[in-house]
Parts: sequence; C-alpha cells; structure tokens
Amino acid sequence: MDLCVIGAGHVGLVTGACFAELGHHVIIVDNDAAKIRQLKRGRLPFFEPGLEELVHRTVAERRLRFTATLAEGVRASLIIFIAVGTPQKPSGEADLTHVEHVTRGIAAHLTGYRLIVEKSTVPVETGQWIQHTLRTYTRRKVPFDVASNPEFLREGTAIQDLLHPDRIVLGVETARAKELLLQLYKPLNAPLVVTDIRSAELIKHASNSFLATKISFINAIARLCELVGADVVKVAEGMGLDPRIGPAFLSAGLGFGGFCLPKDIDAFVHLADKVGYDFALLKAVKQINDEAREHFVRKIEQALWVVKDKTIAILGLSFKPDTDDMRYAPALDVIRALQHDGARIRAFDPQAMAHADGLLPKVTMCRDPYDAAKGADCLAIVTDWNEFKELDFKRLKRLLRQPLIVDGRNVYDAAVLRRLGFRYISVGRRDVSA
Ligand code: UGA
Repeated sequence: MDLCVIGAGHVGLVTGACFAELGHHVIIVDNDAAKIRQLKRGRLPFFEPGLEELVHRTVAERRLRFTATLAEGVRASLIIFIAVGTPQKPSGEADLTHVEHVTRGIAAHLTGYRLIVEKSTVPVETGQWIQHTLRTYTRRKVPFDVASNPEFLREGTAIQDLLHPDRIVLGVETARAKELLLQLYKPLNAPLVVTDIRSAELIKHASNSFLATKISFINAIARLCELVGADVVKVAEGMGLDPRIGPAFLSAGLGFGGFCLPKDIDAFVHLADKVGYDFALLKAVKQINDEAREHFVRKIEQALWVVKDKTIAILGLSFKPDTDDMRYAPALDVIRALQHDGARIRAFDPQAMAHADGLLPKVTMCRDPYDAAKGADCLAIVTDWNEFKELDFKRLKRLLRQPLIVDGRNVYDAAVLRRLGFRYISVGRRDVSA
C-alpha cells in the first residue's frame, strides 16, 4: 500500500520505517526542512535502538522516503497517518495547533479518496474536528474517511512494540476505513479492538493514565514502606504475582517522566474538567509523582547533612533507559534542586549527555560512571540503565570521597553493598550502612 506519515518524531519515524519494513511504500513528511535533509542523509534526530539500521535498509530498498512537502505525501498515498506532536499548553490542555494545521494542509491537496488516520495522542473529539476541518477546507467534493489508530509504542522498545503489538485499536466509522486498516495490520496478527473513533481516542488516554496510576500507587506504597520498615520490592513482587494485578509498572523510584505519561495525564485531567468530571484520582497520581522527585532530593540532602559545596555524581540523565530523551526527565528536577542547594554535579549517561548538556548548564559531563564518581561525596542513581547494574564497586569506593550511594531506582542488592562497605539508601527499603 502507499502510505504517508506526517511528522518525523518518535511515533512517525518508527511507524513509517516499520510499515516500510512490512513491504509498504511509505513517504514521511515533516515541515522541518532541516530535519528532512538530515534524514535524507541517513541521520536520525534521536536515538532509538535498531531504528537507524531499519531506516537505512528500507530507504536503500526504496520503500521509505522523506519530504518536507505535504502535497507530495498526500498525492502519493492512500492512507495518511497524522503523527505530529501534541505539546502541552500552560493549562495542561493538549495543544492541537499542529494537528489542525496539518489537517488543513491535507484538505488543500485532496484530489481523490484518502483515509486520514490520527496516530498522535489526542483528546476525545479530535477525530470529529479533523472530519469537520477536512469538510470545510477541501475545495472540491472529494470523498475521505477519518479513523483513529492510537499508538502504544514505548521509547527504547518502539520497533518491537510496533511489529509485535499486544493489541491494535481501530476507531472507524465506515466499512471502507475498517477494511483498509484491517488489510494493513493483518500481517501483524495481533488482537484487534474495533470501535468508534471516540472510544479509540479514550483507550489511549485511559491506558497511559492507568500505567501512571500503577507507578504512583507503588510509589505511595514505597513511602509507607519507609515509614513502617517494610520492603517495597518484596511488596510489589507479592502483589504482582496476582494475575489481576500483574508485575509490570510496579517498580518504585523516581516516578514517571518522558513526553507521554506526564503530558497525557495533564491533558486527560483537563479534558475531564472540561466535560464536567473532576478526575481527582489522576490529580493525586500527578502529585505523588512530583513528590517522588522531591523525596529523592531530600534523601540526598539528609545523607550529606549540608549539600553546599559537595560534589554529587549522577548516573543516568534520560527519563528512562535505552533512550536519549530528556523530556520531563527526573534528572532535570533532581539536578536543578541540588544545584540550587549549592552542589557541584558530575554526571554520566550512555546516550543523553549531548541533549542534556544544553538543558543543564554547569554540570560536568563525564566519560563513564567511574569518571563521574571521582571525588564525589555521593553517587546517585537516577536512570536504571542496564550498564549501571554491574559496576565495579571496589573501584567506585576508591574513587568516591565517601562510600554513599543513593539509588532512585532500587537497582542494587542492599546486603551486597553493605558488605562492600557502602552506606546505601534506596526507595521504599531500609537504609543500610556498613
Ligand atoms: C508510554 C507508554 O508506556 C506507551 O505504551 C505509550 O505508547 C507511550 O507512553 C506514548 O504515549 O507514546 P514511554 O513514555 O516510552 O511509553 O515510557 P514508559 O516505558 O511507559 O515509562 C514511562 C516512565 O515511567 C519512565 O520514566 C519510567 O522510568 C517510569 N516507570 C516505569 C517507573 O517509574 N516505574 C515502573 O514500574 C515503570
């Protein structure tokens, strides 16, 4: 099939490359001409495991191409996916300017039937607005359909998530739209939920909010564990073995970041308010998430007594492992708060240092975890990259000024660190010291 994906961000680029991998002809459109030039040269705007190879291969096999001209994409394709950004307004509401702008652009170039599919995370009713906008701005009477097909990919495992999804959600209103999307997704052989557009839109918001709720729930339990002397890792294990609860998203720590969960929660709360429902549960989820970052900083402050003029080594900057994405990353709040207290920061991240550099002035970016630890009074684990799990602790102990580890992701075995002579402070577990 001939497909167009508008928006060369995380969702758009991964979706386009994966559809090309499945044998379709895909054109990716982005109005950022510089980004398109870079993509044509084979350079990706962000890091996602496996994506660069996939893009290079599908471009070489002539199934994937890039353009900054919307008309070219609309003309060439039967199905057009809108995957542009939906940033956040100061009120928390989703800013749909890009979606509206692209929709008007599509309308201006429609010459024959097209299926326009919203993939961006959008509030309920966006599908209706897209239909209305297309009707209003299409010059001649050209037939079209609108559908909602939310994306559930995670950064870091995006290709796997797209090619092996646990479900595909189709919000459709005509048989033609349904047939086209069923045909497109048939090779993936995944469970399908076919519904109306509004329900599809809501599934995406509800899913992200539920995941965020699980994380905040376990973080609230972690606080309680600290107060009563219990171990949140064991509590989560015991809860997660109940198949109705499940073990995923029950890791306590610094809470959720990234460009999806925090923003989607705010947008959902705003949407609920707008239609007359006070979503108090989600407001609490957000509050617990903010507190997780503050609480972590407090742990470092208490462990060091006075933070001013101390050096703190931060391991991990990206909002989660296997990405270089710094958006809403806990590291930003943690480092800024410690700098505000007068701390000097040495940091290391396997992928995100280039992005973080501009956002975090006065942070010394280091070569590796050992370089970061040199002369530091505390080693703080902020992102649970795999490579931090097996460090040479004897070497670290020699490099640190004091053998203190504050772990925001519960990565280590407390008994092991204690034996090695560390003071080890984690989240929702007892502090240990040698
Ligand atoms: C999230 C959803 O998981 C995807 O299904 C969705 O498609 C995507 O948003 C989106 O809307 O585009 P993502 O933002 O890539 O994906 O990140 P997650 O893997 O969900 O992690 C979010 C945050 O929660 C990270 O900061 C992670 O460190 C944190 N987290 C996750 C925890 O603190 N504890 C956990 O147990 C799990």
